[in-house]
Amino acid sequence: MDDASAVTDVEVHKRAAAARALELLRPGLRLGLGTGSTARYFVEFVGERVRAGLDLVAVPTSLATAEQAQRCGIPLTTLEETPVLDLTVDGADEIAPDLSLIKGGGGALLREKIVAAASARMVVIADAGKWVERLGRFPLPIEVAPFGLGATRRAIERALGIAPERLTLRRGSDGHAFVTDGGHWILDAAVGRIDDPVATAHALANIPGVMEHGLFVGLARTAIIAGPRGITIVDRS
Ligand code: A5P
Repeated sequence: MDDASAVTDVEVHKRAAAARALELLRPGLRLGLGTGSTARYFVEFVGERVRAGLDLVAVPTSLATAEQAQRCGIPLTTLEETPVLDLTVDGADEIAPDLSLIKGGGGALLREKIVAAASARMVVIADAGKWVERLGRFPLPIEVAPFGLGATRRAIERALGIAPERLTLRRGSDGHAFVTDGGHWILDAAVGRIDDPVATAHALANIPGVMEHGLFVGLARTAIIAGPRGITIVDRS
């Protein structure tokens, strides 16, 4: 842990965490680019480095990030062309002390998890508001196939031990179901405190119709957290 200059609000903190992650860039890097407002700062900064001459290739975790990266001039590749990445830098909705995460508030959890799992190292960048002693305050996003939604919902409620009203189909600003980049829908589960993220992750992964869930366990190796007192680096032991 070390202190940087005092910072004042959440956006400044997100930006500061993203800027700190630039120290991990090096020539030839195969880089996973996350999704969300914090990752957006990082992509912007990476673009500046690329335009200044840094040679790297990146895999975006969403169509939105791909568009931004292209606008910034970052050379993109795919996991077909480049199946192993050196580093992924992404945001999170919640970060626990063991660096288990809740992700998917932006709806990109499936690609984010695939890209993180393909990376030798995942680094999470976040403002201090994302740090929690235990996961579960943030509703857990669960990406599901539209087919068979009623049955999938029921199985999720049983697996999580929650009442139907605690599972909400995410909707877009047009009122229709929010559709992920993969053509799926998202159920947000108000589970409350998650005491055993591994068991919860397994229970969800076993349900047909669940394409992915937002519990990232054992993936993040480092968290860069920026808050009012500066930047804290947490490494998973
Ligand atoms: C995208 O699907 C999410 O996993 C984001 O990484 C997460 O919601 C964090 O987003 P912010 O950086 O916007 O808080």
